[in-house]
Amino acid sequence: MARTTSSGGRGRVTPEHRPRVRPMRMTDVPHVHAIDCAVSAIPWPRHMLHAELGKSGTLDVVSVIGNEVVGFILSSRYADVWHILNVGVRPDHWRRGIARTMMAEVFDRAHELPHLGFTLEVRVSNAAAIALYRRLGFVDHGVRPGYYSDNNEDALVMWREGLPEDVSPEDPG
Ligand SMILES: CC(C)(COP(=O)(O)OP(=O)(O)OC[C@H]1O[C@@H](n2cnc3c(N)ncnc32)[C@H](O)[C@@H]1OP(=O)(O)O)[C@@H](O)C(=O)NCCC(=O)NCCS
Repeated sequence: MARTTSSGGRGRVTPEHRPRVRPMRMTDVPHVHAIDCAVSAIPWPRHMLHAELGKSGTLDVVSVIGNEVVGFILSSRYADVWHILNVGVRPDHWRRGIARTMMAEVFDRAHELPHLGFTLEVRVSNAAAIALYRRLGFVDHGVRPGYYSDNNEDALVMWREGLPEDVSPEDPG
């Protein structure tokens, strides 16, 4: 029988029910797409998710509980900067640290390639996501007017500086 551990006020969680983060696979696409449709006004079409996963210089992760995908992050490196392209967590798992844990994994894996930092766009009305990013060290970096095509909403551009070791990783050899 699995050992159980306390998880604060939210009941008891067996180890196999703890979220873990792993690289996204092609077979995750239908689940990622379903989450994106549930949380985004402009979800990515499946073919875009497939295309993104097939590219080099991308860092795409999912959070899984057992075999169930409960969150995802898609990111891509252009011109020495990691762009966080899409983030989503299944609404029934919000505020349990899923997004924070996935972002920590992305920051960790990003070390593998030299880079200057991370950037992203977020709707100016998206208080939850802005709070998450600020908590993770992102700062406001300007506004792109009318960035979102569904309602012409402005995007807040955010930036998180890379660490010195991100810019010049030690020679592994
Ligand atoms: C934004 C989103 C990804 C956050 O996912 P999450 O797994 O619930 O976030 P976490 O539990 O890891 O939250 C980490 C921290 O972010 C902040 N945060 C997250 N959601 C918040 C909310 N609704 N209100 C205020 N702060 C919030 C808090 O500081 C939180 O820490 P705390 O719970 O200890 O206070 C999720 O709400 C979501 O999928 N939203 C819809 C899609 C979206 O907006 N994507 C981002 C597009 S740029």
